[in-house]
Amino acid sequence: MKQITFINGRDIPMELHRPVIVQKINLNPIEDRKKAIEGAGFNTFLLNTESIFLDMLTDSGTNAMSNNQLAAMMQADEAYAGSSSFKRLEKSVCHFFNKKLFLPVHQGRAAEHILAQTFVKKGDVIPMNFHFTTTRAHIEFVGGKVEELIVDEVFKTKSKELFKGNMDIKKLTQCIERVGKDKIPFIRMEVTTNLTGGQPVSLDNIRKVKEVAKKWHIPVVIDACLIAENAWFIKTREKGCEDMSIQEIIHAISECGDIIYFSGRKLGAARGGGIITNTNEHFMKMRAFIPLFEGFLTYGGMSTKEIEALAVGLNEFTDETVISQMPRFIQHVVTELEKKHVPVVTPAGALGVHIDAKKFLPHINQKQYPAGALVAALFLISGIRGMERGTISTDRDITTKQEVPAELELIRLAVPRRVFSLSHMEFLIDRMVWLFKNRDLIGGLTFTEEPTVLRFFFGRLKPVSNWPEKLIAQFKKDFGEMSL
Ligand code: F0G
Repeated sequence: MKQITFINGRDIPMELHRPVIVQKINLNPIEDRKKAIEGAGFNTFLLNTESIFLDMLTDSGTNAMSNNQLAAMMQADEAYAGSSSFKRLEKSVCHFFNKKLFLPVHQGRAAEHILAQTFVKKGDVIPMNFHFTTTRAHIEFVGGKVEELIVDEVFKTKSKELFKGNMDIKKLTQCIERVGKDKIPFIRMEVTTNLTGGQPVSLDNIRKVKEVAKKWHIPVVIDACLIAENAWFIKTREKGCEDMSIQEIIHAISECGDIIYFSGRKLGAARGGGIITNTNEHFMKMRAFIPLFEGFLTYGGMSTKEIEALAVGLNEFTDETVISQMPRFIQHVVTELEKKHVPVVTPAGALGVHIDAKKFLPHINQKQYPAGALVAALFLISGIRGMERGTISTDRDITTKQEVPAELELIRLAVPRRVFSLSHMEFLIDRMVWLFKNRDLIGGLTFTEEPTVLRFFFGRLKPVSNWPEKLIAQFKKDFGEMSL
C-alpha cells in the first residue's frame, strides 16, 4: 500500500486517524520540573503525570483506543465464568495468531511468570535473542539463566543492518551443544527486541531458529508484544515479503512458535495479555496456574471491558495504516536528529526513539549512569518523560552483586500508538538538539536508595554535582527567563 504522505517533496508521516476525545496536557515552568525531578529521586518512573508534558516513558497501556474499541467495551458481559466477552477475545486471538488454544493473563509479565513456573527449573538455560527486564527477572527467580545470542551488529548503535533483532544462528547451535538440550526448556524470540531499540527480527531468521529448535526437539517461545510492528518491518524491509499482508506475516511468524505470549498493553492497544499454543500438553500444564495466579480461565485477571477492547484492538493491529504510524513517527524523529548529529540508534526501530547516551555524554562514566542523567536532563528542559534503558535498568550480578555496565546505554522515548501529533515530535527534536549542544553541562547520578531487583522502577538517585542548576541557567539564557 502506498502512503500518501509527501508534503512539498518531504516524506512526512501522516496521522491516519482523528482525535475524537482529547486529554489536556500542561507544559509547566522549568522550576516546577526541577522540584518534580528532585521529588522523584531523578528517576522518571517516580514522576507524577501532572508535571509531565509529553509522556514518552512507554507504549505500554498508554495507546489511544479507537471508537470501535470504546464501543465494544459497552457490550462487556460481566460474569466470573463463561462470559461471552471471553469467547469473543478467544476467537480474535486465535484468528490473529492462527492457533487453537488460548490462556488469558492480566499482562505480559504474568505470561512470563506462568512460563517460568511451568517450564524452568534451577540450572536451566534459556537462549534468546535478547532479554527483557521482566522476562529475565522471572527466569532468574526460579533459578534459570538467560543466554543472549543476538547478532553482534546490534551493539553498533549506528548501523545499516535492517534486522538487528536477529538471533545469531551459529551462536544458538554452539549454545545448545555446550549446555545440552535437556537443560534448555525453550528458546525465546522477542519480536522486536525492546531493550536494544525495538529492533526487528526477519522472517528468514525466525524460520532458521525454528529449524534448529526442531532438530533438537526444543520448543520455541515467541514474545509477541510488538509482533505487528515487526511484521510491518518485514513487509517494508525484507526481500520477498513486500506483497504479503500484515496478517499473513504475523501468521508466518506465529507458525515458528510452539508457544506465543503477549502483553495487551502494547499489542491490541488495550490491557491484559495472553498465552497461545497448539500443543495440548503445554496448554494443560500452563492452564493449571491460571486460576492460581491470574483468575478464572474466562478472564485471567482482565476486566471484561478490557477483554472486549483487546478483541477489537487485535483486529485493528492487522491494518497497515494503524500499525505503521508508530514506526513512521519514530523514523521521522530519527532522520531529523541524525541530520543534527545527535547520536540516535539507527536504523529506526519500533517502540520509540533511542538515543545512545554513551556517545551523547562521553564524559560521564557508566558508574554514574549517563542514560539516567540524560533522561533526567531531558525532562528538566522539556517536560518530556523518557526511560533509562542502560546500566540502571541492568540489575547487579545476582551472585557477585557487582554493577554490570550495560553494553547499550540508551534512553528511550516511546511513541505510544495514535497519541502524539507531529508538532509534539518537532518539539522533541528541537529540545533534544538544544540538549546536545549543551551536553557538557550534564553530569552524572548516584544512587541514594537501590532496590536489589528491577531497581530502575523504584530506585532513587541524586546528581553528583550541581549540574541541574547550571543546565537551568543556560536554558533561561537561551530561551528567556519566562520561557517554559
Ligand atoms: N516483553 C516485552 C518485549 C515487553 O516490552 C514487555 C513490557 C513485557 C514483556 C512485559 O509486559 O508490561 O504487560 O507485563 N514492556 C513495557 C515497556 C513495560 O515499557 O517496554 P507487561
